[in-house]
Amino acid sequence: MSATILDGVKIARDIRSEVAAEVKAMAAAGIRPGLAVVLVGHNPASEVYVRGKVKSSEEVGVYSEKHTPPENISTEELLELVIGLNERDDIDGILVQLPLPPQVDSKKILMAVDPAKDVDGFHPVNVGLLSTQREGLVPCTPAGAIEILKRTNIPIAGKEAVVVGRSDIVGKPAAMLLLNGNATVTVCHSKTRNLPAVCRRADILVAAIGRAGMITRDFVKPGATVIDVGMNSVTDHAEFDRLFAGNAKREETFRTKGSTLAGDVHPNVAEVAGAMTPVPGGVGPLTIAMLMANTVRAAKLRRGK
Ligand code: GUN
Repeated sequence: MSATILDGVKIARDIRSEVAAEVKAMAAAGIRPGLAVVLVGHNPASEVYVRGKVKSSEEVGVYSEKHTPPENISTEELLELVIGLNERDDIDGILVQLPLPPQVDSKKILMAVDPAKDVDGFHPVNVGLLSTQREGLVPCTPAGAIEILKRTNIPIAGKEAVVVGRSDIVGKPAAMLLLNGNATVTVCHSKTRNLPAVCRRADILVAAIGRAGMITRDFVKPGATVIDVGMNSVTDHAEFDRLFAGNAKREETFRTKGSTLAGDVHPNVAEVAGAMTPVPGGVGPLTIAMLMANTVRAAKLRRGK
């Protein structure tokens, strides 16, 4: 048996075209959703993500602008930038790319974003709205993971869901979304005892740990759906071999680039899972598609629609 591979690229494309149609309809009413992305300093991964966010905005017709303050910006200066964006009527969504440099108080910055413009869904007001099943803005990556389940007709209600990882950005909101969908949810973390056995209970297993290939086939119940949220750059040869030995395409990229992108799920999971998301091409593309959807939602909600 070999797992069905859930194609995030296609699902993201579908969502983007739905969003583009909405943007077009709004344009007829004289409204153009606007997104401001704040990228502090020169973190290479963040630069790649932000480029994708700006490019996707252009594709769906969302106005976007990028703010790139220097690495040494103070919390107060960054607060001033965020407050300015809060006050602008042409900006519906504000996204402060993480991580921020160590001298900046990240919690203070995320708290300053107007919850109505918080397209990342990181503000405590939006976290509270999600946890009490009220309408709000939901973090893009976990929302994308759920969207994959919904659009591939994988039921959530009544299922055993196990989320590995408890980050504020992915693990916790993913658990909350699954709970709101009436799954029975277990959240695991570094202190969880007998992790493989807990994971084997899952009908839906969400891996959001940040360790390449940690979830191997012995963590997975036969037929389970496995959602891989990991984005790990593998540069070590032994690590590469543990994950991808014999995979000609991967060997080629690794040889030419010196690295390859790996999820938290080991490829051997495909031998037991019923369905799984690949990396790259799974949850990743959904993150940006959901950001576009959130920006349009924020634009509508802010105008009382
Ligand atoms: N850094 C890594 N993932 C994210 C994300 O979803 N949003 C923001 N703002 N920063 C990130």
